Formats: sequence, structure tokens, C-alpha cells
Amino acid sequence: MAGKHTLTIIKPDAFGAAKAGNIIALLEARGFRVRAARVMHLTKQQAGEFYAVHRERPFYGELVDFMTSGACMPMVLEKPNAVVALRDAIGATDPAEAAAGTVRKLYAESKGRNAIHASDSDDNAGREARFFFAETDLIY
Ligand code: CMP
Repeated sequence: MAGKHTLTIIKPDAFGAAKAGNIIALLEARGFRVRAARVMHLTKQQAGEFYAVHRERPFYGELVDFMTSGACMPMVLEKPNAVVALRDAIGATDPAEAAAGTVRKLYAESKGRNAIHASDSDDNAGREARFFFAETDLIY
């Protein structure tokens, strides 16, 4: 069965533009509840490790630079079928293709500076939650 939790990151573009409150309000209005949250400035090593799956992609260096350009806000969100529901709520990677009312349509500038991350599977949601939060922060 699909899980109740997923991992999101309000990225440095949106966090730096003081859009975190608006984005959290949008997600709460869509039924998500924040179950863990922190504000942090990723190191190159952390960003590189988090996005290691994209290491061979041409945009990897740009992605690591962007994700380390300022503070960001990782959060664990809860909702039934959380992974699919969050991907729906944030919209396509490219804001030009994102549906109306989605986080990326409203707040993203480009494919790279795209405001928010969402886990793409239950397995990755668990792995990514543990990347940012201690086991003791994840008692729901
Ligand atoms: P995210 O959902 O966090 O996961 C991978 C990220 O890679 C993606 O969001 C984008 O920020 C980034 N990305 C994907 N495609 C491109 C691209 N063509 N150019 C720059 N960054 C990209």
C-alpha cells in the first residue's frame, strides 16, 4: 500500500524569496500536514550526496550549486498516498509545463530553479527523510 509520508524541500530560490509560508499554506490547503521540518544551508557534499542519482547528468553541477546557494527547508509531509499527492500538488519539473495552481506554476522560474523537490517513490521518501532527519524526529 502507498505510504502516508513523503519528503519535500522548499529550495533556495523559493525560500530566499520568502515564499515558504505561501507554499506550506498551499500544501496544507491540499490536505498535507507537516510532520518534521528544518531550515538548513546544504554543503556541497550534502547536496552532491542527496542528488547522487543525477551525478552523470549534464545539469548535476548546476543543481549542486543551486541547492547550496542559500538556505532551504526540508520537510516530511503526511497525507494518504503522499508521494503521488505531492507530485500532483507541485506540478511538472518545468514550470512552463506545470498545471495551474501547482507550486511550480506559481513559484518556479525554470527547470533548474524550480522552487520545490518531492520524493519520487515510497522507498526514496523513506531514504530522503532519513537523510535530513534523525530517527527520533520521525516518530509520527
Ligand atoms: P528535483 O525534483 O529536486 O530533482 C532533480 C532536480 O534536477 C530537479 O528537481 C531539477 O531541479 C533538476 N533538473 C532537472 N532537469 C534539469 C535541467 N534540464 N536543467 C537543470 N536542472 C534540472
